[in-house]
Amino acid sequence: MLEPLAHIGRDPGTGGYLRDAWSPADLELREWFAGEAARRGLALREDRNGNLWAWWGDPSPARPGVVTGSHLDSVRQGGAYDGPLGVVSAFAALDVLRERGVEPSAPVGVACFTDEEGARFGVPCVGSRLLTGVLAPERALGLTDDEGDTLADVLRKAGRDPDALGRDDETLRAVGVFVELHVEQGRGLVAEGRPVGVAGAIWPHGRWRFDFRGRADHAGTTRLADRDDPMLPFARLVLAAREEAERLGVVATVGKVRVSPGNANAIPGLVSAWLDARGPEERAVRELVAALAGAAAVQEESWTPEVRFDAALRDRLARVAGGQDRGEPAPILPTGAGHDAGILAAAGVPSAMLFVRNPTGVSHSPQEHAERADCEAGVVALADVLEDLCR
Ligand code: GLV
Ligand code: MN
Ligand code: MN
Repeated sequence: MLEPLAHIGRDPGTGGYLRDAWSPADLELREWFAGEAARRGLALREDRNGNLWAWWGDPSPARPGVVTGSHLDSVRQGGAYDGPLGVVSAFAALDVLRERGVEPSAPVGVACFTDEEGARFGVPCVGSRLLTGVLAPERALGLTDDEGDTLADVLRKAGRDPDALGRDDETLRAVGVFVELHVEQGRGLVAEGRPVGVAGAIWPHGRWRFDFRGRADHAGTTRLADRDDPMLPFARLVLAAREEAERLGVVATVGKVRVSPGNANAIPGLVSAWLDARGPEERAVRELVAALAGAAAVQEESWTPEVRFDAALRDRLARVAGGQDRGEPAPILPTGAGHDAGILAAAGVPSAMLFVRNPTGVSHSPQEHAERADCEAGVVALADVLEDLCR
């Protein structure tokens, strides 16, 4: 099932994926999702925030569903698995339930959340944050992409109604439990020698924008002593982020920078840089950002507190998902990656995650990989978990 998606949004030069939210590639992926739902006779719904839901059975507040899924957008130059593996596995697990002749006592849903990565507008998990009300629609609509288009503009161009955005209790109440399967973004399962694991917790994490202002001037005629070059404090930020992260036992990354105006023969007038920082403890992440803030103008673009997944549900998944493999519970792993399952968990929806082994651990890169046999083990584990939850 990943095969028909392989060409969508793929950069032929690098093999990486460019699947920004609401881009032509994303719209094509959403069409694919609708087609998979139709092929299975599932009822397709797009909620107020652009998230897609394919239902086997009709959920209601009195009879909420067992829901699984993930996202189809990607980081820029991303891999084939982060997101799509969870959506494809959701449809495949539903097929397994039907082959087994399972008659679920609750509706089963497949979900595809919109703009999980935040590659285009900067804020991750926009679809699930809007759904649960932790992102205000006014803020979301004003977010701009690199072309200066707002989310409101982009939604209108995609034929959606920006005024519809916002907390959506009706949709949320249809989700009794949510399980997201995801390629592992580390080598925890390699170390354990197991194909499938379960998420224990998601580290607290955030993104901050640093603006360094200086004075644009000629690269050849301006004496060093006369310069106000914002590239210098930016360079100090990058090095200090690494040093502070080592000191505090967290991770910090400057992965995006914009230099204005961007001439090789001019001192820049403005350097904007984005810091991503995460760690097992919020206090240390906050301390890192405070230590780096210094003289620069800093804006917090997103913050996600720590998520500890429901322990009873986590252990139940570990038992059920581990069963097919060794008869031992699947290992429980923490992660530094954010997920829609974390946003739903924070909103009070019982949520859990399955991870599928990634031989190199590399992710957010074209090198991201999972072996076919492990993907199949993931589907069987997910089907077992859904069957158990549907009882
Ligand atoms: C999602 O992939 C994240 O950046 O945490
Ligand atoms: Mn990702
Ligand atoms: Mn993901």
